[in-house]
Amino acid sequence: MSRVAASGTAGLPTLAGARARGTPIVMLTAYDHPSGRVAAEAGVDVVLVGDSAAMTVLGHTTTRAITLDELLMLTRAVRRAVTSIPVVGDLPFGTYEESDALAVATARRFMEGGLCDAVKLEGARDMLPRVRAIIDAGMPVVGHVGLLPQSVTSSDGYRAQGRDADQAVQIIRDAEALAAAGCSALVVEAVPAEVASLLSSRVEVPVIGIGAGASTHGQVLVYHDLLGLGEGRVARFVRQYAHGHRDQVEAVRRWADDVRTGRFPAGAETYGIAAEVMAEVHARLD
Ligand code: KIV
Repeated sequence: MSRVAASGTAGLPTLAGARARGTPIVMLTAYDHPSGRVAAEAGVDVVLVGDSAAMTVLGHTTTRAITLDELLMLTRAVRRAVTSIPVVGDLPFGTYEESDALAVATARRFMEGGLCDAVKLEGARDMLPRVRAIIDAGMPVVGHVGLLPQSVTSSDGYRAQGRDADQAVQIIRDAEALAAAGCSALVVEAVPAEVASLLSSRVEVPVIGIGAGASTHGQVLVYHDLLGLGEGRVARFVRQYAHGHRDQVEAVRRWADDVRTGRFPAGAETYGIAAEVMAEVHARLD
């Protein structure tokens, strides 16, 4: 497979260009056609169809629960909406770790027919051969270091990483190894700002942070977090720009109330028919 961007997009090189110009990169997750349209119309630079869909749209308590077919279906819906900026597909837990052949086959499912411009996978060290195999097969890879949600097995596992020297050095070494393996960009999640800043200065590729401070080359947030579409507490690195869940509950409540009190539907929300046509309907039935 050649390194051709999905039709209509310039692919991940646009991110390298943004880093070179010092323009912050804006990445947002999307999981379906409406969220893809919002991301595209709002002018983000790149869309990630994250395996966070397992939690945000499928109701699981871990990202590990989403299947390949489920994530591919969501990715297709996003791609129908996002045609002129790159889309990155997240390789789900259990679909790439075991062997290079499996990693390449799974990555191909995301890249076939221009569905995605790149794939993302979590981890370094044991995953470096997988990263190299996918890149050797002609498909761009985004690496992911720091907090690795697919390695979290309980809710208290979502903690900042790299807060002691050993871990911080390891995360930076992991990022360097992924960049040297040929990753086109890196996501760094939930690490102290100073560590992310040092990491960003030590690799040549764009580094996109989530909970990693302001010195990375870009930022990514989860769509549902940014728009307040989830329930309950959000991580400290989330800034909510809307209260989508609360506002939608309120809207549905008002509609239900209007139905129950006869205020919905009104005349303007109703189709009409000419009186003589209706008379004929009656006549024929009688
Ligand atoms: O799945 C996802 O949404 C992600 C982001 C948190 C980067 O990997």
